[in-house]
Amino acid sequence: MQLWRFLHPSALAFTLRTTSQAIIDRLKGAPPRTTQAAQYVARHARAGDPDDVLRTLDTFAQNERWLMSLGPLKGPLIKELAQRLPANARVLELGAYCGYSSIMIASTLGRGARITSIEINKDAVASSRANVEMAGLSDQITFVHGPSSKMISTLEGRFDLVFLDHWKDLTHPTCN
Ligand SMILES: C[S@@+](CC[C@H](N)C(=O)[O-])C[C@H]1O[C@@H](n2cnc3c(N)ncnc32)[C@H](O)[C@@H]1O
Repeated sequence: MQLWRFLHPSALAFTLRTTSQAIIDRLKGAPPRTTQAAQYVARHARAGDPDDVLRTLDTFAQNERWLMSLGPLKGPLIKELAQRLPANARVLELGAYCGYSSIMIASTLGRGARITSIEINKDAVASSRANVEMAGLSDQITFVHGPSSKMISTLEGRFDLVFLDHWKDLTHPTCN
């Protein structure tokens, strides 16, 4: 983790806001942020509407707690990439978090597409599943709980796209 990035003058306001939110959550005994996001989606999003689930996650990230999801700025880049794939593509994602990018990719591709997303954090897996269920995409997206280093070898077949979005220090330097 490159700590200096968070201490750069341009990032200080963000660092202070997210750190104070984390301290408040810890003092209040609040559930993990991913759980909070899924609860917010359950309260506010329109069931069966992937775009509305994504919008609701964006609103949560904007107004409640910062999320490290793709979000509205980087999301369109992945959407554009997904649009180049066959409608029945198989996609592997490393790092699900709240399921944001899985929902974006699945809803861009056809109903025949399949996304497998590996996530190490069990709360993030539960929240991703809840958000995907809310989006009506559970038949297309499978979450695998565990570290990518162990879980990749349990998967079968080939993938048309592999989206590396877990910790950046796990990515080979030639991919950066
Ligand atoms: C940047 S977030 C993923 C965001 C997500 N792709 C999105 O846009 O909605 C990174 C996620 O990778 C997960 N992660 C970190 N190391 C991992 C590993 N070794 N195997 C699987 N998941 C990992 C973290 O728990 C975190 O949820």
